[in-house]
Amino acid sequence: MAKIAIIGAGYVGLTTGACLASLGHDVIIADNKDDRVKSLRAGKIPFYEPGLDELVSNVVKSKKLSFVLGASNASETAEFHFLCLPTPSNKDGSSDLSYFEEGINEITPVLQPNSIVINKSTVPLGTAKRLQETLTKTEAHVVSNPEFLSEGNAINDFLKPSRIVIGASSKHHSERVANLYSDIDAPVLLCSWESAELIKHTANAFLAMKLTFVNEIATLCEMTGADIEDVTSGIGYDPRIGADYMRAGPGWGGSCFPKDSASLTHVARSAGFNFTLLEHTIELNQKHLDRTAHKVMQMTPSNDGDTKIAAWGLTFKAGTDDLRYSPAIEILHRLEKEGYKINAFDPTVKGTIPKLPLTQITEDPYDCVKEADALVVLTEWIDFVELDMKTVAESMRNPNLIDTRNIFNKSEMEKLGFAYVGMGI
Ligand SMILES: NC(=O)c1ccc[n+]([C@@H]2O[C@H](COP(=O)([O-])OP(=O)(O)OC[C@H]3O[C@@H](n4cnc5c(N)ncnc54)[C@H](O)[C@@H]3O)[C@@H](O)[C@H]2O)c1
Repeated sequence: MAKIAIIGAGYVGLTTGACLASLGHDVIIADNKDDRVKSLRAGKIPFYEPGLDELVSNVVKSKKLSFVLGASNASETAEFHFLCLPTPSNKDGSSDLSYFEEGINEITPVLQPNSIVINKSTVPLGTAKRLQETLTKTEAHVVSNPEFLSEGNAINDFLKPSRIVIGASSKHHSERVANLYSDIDAPVLLCSWESAELIKHTANAFLAMKLTFVNEIATLCEMTGADIEDVTSGIGYDPRIGADYMRAGPGWGGSCFPKDSASLTHVARSAGFNFTLLEHTIELNQKHLDRTAHKVMQMTPSNDGDTKIAAWGLTFKAGTDDLRYSPAIEILHRLEKEGYKINAFDPTVKGTIPKLPLTQITEDPYDCVKEADALVVLTEWIDFVELDMKTVAESMRNPNLIDTRNIFNKSEMEKLGFAYVGMGI
């Protein structure tokens, strides 16, 4: 079994480390945040990911996983080094590689010859090649192994992936990395660094485009009397189209789609190609967020400074506590600017949100809706569907319901007294 260092104890690093340890490897995870390492050592997972606390606890008990402060402390004894570092966006849409480079600088002095530096962070095409050039003296080899897990289903996605992509400059290095996953039953694609990097960006850009396409059709449905649920079911049966990622919503967001789409347009521009399809997709998503906020305003137009909006859902989707580029926050931000008073509830969010300084975060979904003029549902938590909507309608000042995820049944809600608006229905 291999000795593995994971650099970065975030959503990807912690999941990768715990899952590789569960496959029998000896894993050390490093982070540069002292409090994060301390809390992990105390058995506390610093974010919400279903099942991860139990998995981490099991592999820590079996001495397959441990945590250290500082990347070099994990890397000095390892043969494989997984970089799971943040790669956020710069203002111009390009990737900010400063965290990534800082991590590399920390491990470079301790890399053993013939060890493998595996990049799991999402990076622009050309990064692995450049990294290999900077590591020449160490005699370590670079492999690109993009991660496709989605938050909320991370363990399952890691251990039962749709595919494993490994990009390298030699078959030998790819195979060494492929061996780490030998107990996982999934197709393994061996390719070049460049292809692996582009596969990751393309996957996210394509999914973002698919969602925008569905949201555009949903808008057309609203203008023509068609029903988006029927339309997406009708096309989803066609195997060339597929039924996944077909739900109309408030607009896409999250820690990956916005930055990866922006980064890919930047990569294309640097290569001399204007990727207008993707640029328009990004632009149309912003318009769709505006349109969703406008829907709420239209339902509660008389804003005399006392119009109260209740919001359920703050994260970028259900099943996570991740607020990065959340469409919910984007929409509530627009409403705050128009002077609406907002109470919000989310099963995983407490405290305050910097971009929503005037929004009150409540701890109970029923408290959240009291005396509200509209309820806007922004994420698809199953918990919301299980609430007593009759009580909700009765406790509101005006029972208007804007269901941006189409999780409620329109006629059932109307029977309970709601004025109901969904997306594309
Ligand atoms: N979150 C996802 O769903 C997901 C899925 C696939 C790919 N990715 C990609 O994986 C990468 C990591 O994403 P994430 O969501 O796990 O990020 P994250 O912000 O949750 O975690 C990054 C971690 O790295 C740590 N860190 C930063 N600099 C460090 C250093 N020098 N040494 C040690 N630790 C350091 C941070 O403290 C943090 O704990 C990104 O490139 C992202 O695009 C993310």
